[in-house]
Amino acid sequence: MERTIYWEDGAVMILDQVKLPLEVEYIRCTDHHMVARCIMEMNIRGAPAIGIATAMGIAVAASRMKETSAGGMCRALEAVYDELLATRPTAVNIRWAVDRVRGFLEGLGDIPVPQLKQDLVAEAVRVLEEDVAVNRAIGEHGAGFIPEGARVLTHCNAGALATGGYGTATAPMRVAHEKGKKIHVYADETRPLLQGARLTAWELMRSGIPVTLIADNAAGALMSMGEIDLVIVGTDRTTYGGDVANKIGTYTVAVLAKEHGIPFYVAAPTSSIDFTMEHGEDIPIEERSPEEVTDIMGRCRVAPDGVLVRNPAFDVTPSALVTAIITEKGAFRPGDLHRLRDVGADLERYVLRGDH
Ligand code: MRU
Repeated sequence: MERTIYWEDGAVMILDQVKLPLEVEYIRCTDHHMVARCIMEMNIRGAPAIGIATAMGIAVAASRMKETSAGGMCRALEAVYDELLATRPTAVNIRWAVDRVRGFLEGLGDIPVPQLKQDLVAEAVRVLEEDVAVNRAIGEHGAGFIPEGARVLTHCNAGALATGGYGTATAPMRVAHEKGKKIHVYADETRPLLQGARLTAWELMRSGIPVTLIADNAAGALMSMGEIDLVIVGTDRTTYGGDVANKIGTYTVAVLAKEHGIPFYVAAPTSSIDFTMEHGEDIPIEERSPEEVTDIMGRCRVAPDGVLVRNPAFDVTPSALVTAIITEKGAFRPGDLHRLRDVGADLERYVLRGDH
């Protein structure tokens, strides 16, 4: 599997997801403006992946700075944080990465600038490596919720391409598959930008996990015909109250799942949980350009000129529709998610275990 993002020779290498699956190309970002543009234009996308890009963007910015003191570097980096934070508002992982790197820098103190630059790169690479480990843990905790022979619906791409590797929503599927369970994934195509068709179908096929692509509006029909056993999706921001922001259309799938008595799971690394926010209605929802709806991937116009368009990129699924949230620390009922905030809490008491 191609790497989503990595650090090489002083630059951030980003797999260009706008071109996938037709072309496999990397963009070499030599400054943080390029990284910010890649996040905004979705050459890299998916909440954990853009968190990693943020950490690497800060590292590449620092490595080019001319400041001569650690204090000067810290002050100059504030503008870099602001630029990266302004790229996409819904995924909380960007803020998570900025907070992590800022805290790391504060911990370094007044060290020589060349050392500081080196340490920042090492920290950004750690953010990437830890993300992969977190995803594997999500997979271990989540695989028990997938029975032998299960047909699993997913929406958008919360796979390896949306993360440092392995994926969040796809992690339980990958572990189940690695353990020899015969599972089958149904991937919603996910209009307007078709992350399901272009990315999820591509990466699961490459991993040898059986996958069937469906139009978004086929999900309800498949559920009513008894062809879906469970749903697993990712999240861009989940509040500590358990409300889940994810790709537009996720809410529709959750309502359908509830209607058909199908479990609806959310895979959420703790970097995607907003511990400052309780209610989903407070989550900022990104609105993207009308052309994403009037055209297919910028290649073909399908709507009349001048038509009015709304294009919210995300929606919020209320906690009441969520069966469990699978994190690297275990799976929890949405109502118990707030316990992850409490240092020293006895989380084991609240962990849900799948019995498959
Ligand atoms: O607009 P995108 O493609 O960045 O949206 C991505 C999603 O909605 C994913 O499901 C979410 O970021 C979780 S990725 C592990």
